[in-house]
Amino acid sequence: MLSKKIESLLNKQVELEASSSQYYLAMASWAQIKGYNGVSSFLYKHSDEERMHMLKLIDYINERGGHGLVPTLKAPPKEFKNVQHIFEQILTHEIAVSNEINKLVEQCLAGKDYTTHNFLQWYVSEQIEEESLARTLLDKLNLIGNDKGGMYLFDRDLGTLETEHDKKK
Ligand code: FEO
Repeated sequence: MLSKKIESLLNKQVELEASSSQYYLAMASWAQIKGYNGVSSFLYKHSDEERMHMLKLIDYINERGGHGLVPTLKAPPKEFKNVQHIFEQILTHEIAVSNEINKLVEQCLAGKDYTTHNFLQWYVSEQIEEESLARTLLDKLNLIGNDKGGMYLFDRDLGTLETEHDKKK
């Protein structure tokens, strides 16, 4: 059985994963209308992954006798400066998510909830992967700079990049 405190912290994480999903969905839609088909396809998949992270948490909370709550979300931004800026925002956002996961892990240890601690290890590894992917893509974009040809290839490659989402299909 979950303590009320851990249940509430897990529900906060549900909200964060849900808002991450919306955030990436807004980026995907922006990239699509700007003609970056590869970037938008990558971001749509990324948004789906965040929804999966949210669902996994809701299921866990419910399985442990709590109640996974569907949050009210603030609308994400509509406009983005450029693709590079999007990936900067993704990296910053994922670092913030990792910090929240780490705090949650600490609270589980403090409350001696080893089951939830164990459950959260999946998120700890996932965050390492997500941060590393965002850093790699941002490094590439920094190399490309204002080179239109480079950006064309980046977009094309991102459309064919196999992500965690593809592997789970
Ligand atoms: Fe579910 Fe990207 O953190």
